[in-house]
Amino acid sequence: MTSTGDTGECVEIKDLIIDDRERGIFRVHRSTMTSMDLFRREQARIFNRCWIYLGHESEVENPGDYRRRTVAGRPLFFIRGKDGQVRVFLNSCPHRGALLCRRDEGNAEVLRCFYHAWSFNTSGELIGLPGEDAYGPSFDRSELSLKAPPRVDSYRGFYFVSFNPAVEDLLSYLAGARDYLDLIVDQAEAGMQVVSGSNMYTLKANWKLLAENSLDGYHLIPTHRTYVDYIAGLGTDDGGDTMAARPPGVARALGNGHCVSENIARSGRPIAHWHPLFGEEAREPLARVRRRLVEKYGEERAYRMADTSRNLLIYPNLIILDFVAITIRYIEPLAPDSMDVTAWHLVPREESGARLVTRLDSFLTFLGPGGFATPDDVEALESCQTGFRATETEWSDLSRGMLKPIPGTADELQMRGFWRQWHAHMQGLSKTDVQDGPPTTMEAAVASGTGER
Ligand code: FES
Ligand SMILES: [Fe+2]
Repeated sequence: MTSTGDTGECVEIKDLIIDDRERGIFRVHRSTMTSMDLFRREQARIFNRCWIYLGHESEVENPGDYRRRTVAGRPLFFIRGKDGQVRVFLNSCPHRGALLCRRDEGNAEVLRCFYHAWSFNTSGELIGLPGEDAYGPSFDRSELSLKAPPRVDSYRGFYFVSFNPAVEDLLSYLAGARDYLDLIVDQAEAGMQVVSGSNMYTLKANWKLLAENSLDGYHLIPTHRTYVDYIAGLGTDDGGDTMAARPPGVARALGNGHCVSENIARSGRPIAHWHPLFGEEAREPLARVRRRLVEKYGEERAYRMADTSRNLLIYPNLIILDFVAITIRYIEPLAPDSMDVTAWHLVPREESGARLVTRLDSFLTFLGPGGFATPDDVEALESCQTGFRATETEWSDLSRGMLKPIPGTADELQMRGFWRQWHAHMQGLSKTDVQDGPPTTMEAAVASGTGER
């Protein structure tokens, strides 16, 4: 099988990645980010086959609450039924195709199609249509219910869908990413909820560039210098210089393409790690949360929740950023050089008042569309995409730290893990060895001081 790309050159799918573990060289052919053939193949081999993130249960709290989404190219919506159950439907009227759900969010007892006024209840059943007596005796309402994706499942409040009826179960698909979702969800005493509203933006770049970028510690200091200087100016919890050294951290491939980069927090964590950014008045409430976490989960687990931060990629297109705040970032590929991004903010239900304001402010300051980070990243990624027009420069390099026993967060193991899974899927293989070598741990990274600039 070959990929023609847009360069006119033919590159075999198997040759799109150079993964030389002996020499420590990892390169990706840039047609992976420009070719329409490969884009279509990704849709078929990845987005039609994997579990893909849909939304969070807290977004549809009450019976009749619904949210509209585009997932893997399909218009969908999810709605909480009268019976309390969350259901997901393809947003296409069984009559002649119109979008049934026409708002991004709302509450409805009945969904009525605007085209010919067929009506459906929250369980997706056709409950009424104008002039039903004009249809013959074989017309059967029950054959015309709303359709659901073949598979729907959730883990700790995160809903996923799959268009592959034979996909493995969600729990085993999540592999090592489950533990990281637990670390995030367990921070809350009364569960997590998505704050109403989202940030949406379109990037003129290939979706995989943002998957990479979301885990890329190497670009932090050069690209986000302004933010780095701003945080450094605030000092640390012990009055030191936040950015005097990159804190120890580790990058890990978690199986099935999921990857994480994890750091010891030096710039504050809104859950339980105080920083001058939060103000004096936050010290005691944060200390109380810390004590609760230790009591419930033990010192070691509490330390990971409160004192380490993580950038988690759930393959292929969900990112959860848990550092200055918790951001859910969803990437919807549109074309080889274009993607839509939506970001939501996840908070513990029990948080309110000044603490919630501080958290939301941290989120917007760094990751909001006008924040310190996002415009920098958009500029960097769109610049790469433009650079790919120089087709004579065929390869991108992701070799950093490949021969290190314990790769840090400024290394590129986390991107290699993602690309290795991508490459396996594109070749029709389901599983692959995504690691560089034996898996590493946070403890080993701290002991070795990994994370230096
Ligand atoms: S397309 Fe929906 S009622 Fe006709
Ligand atoms: Fe960035």
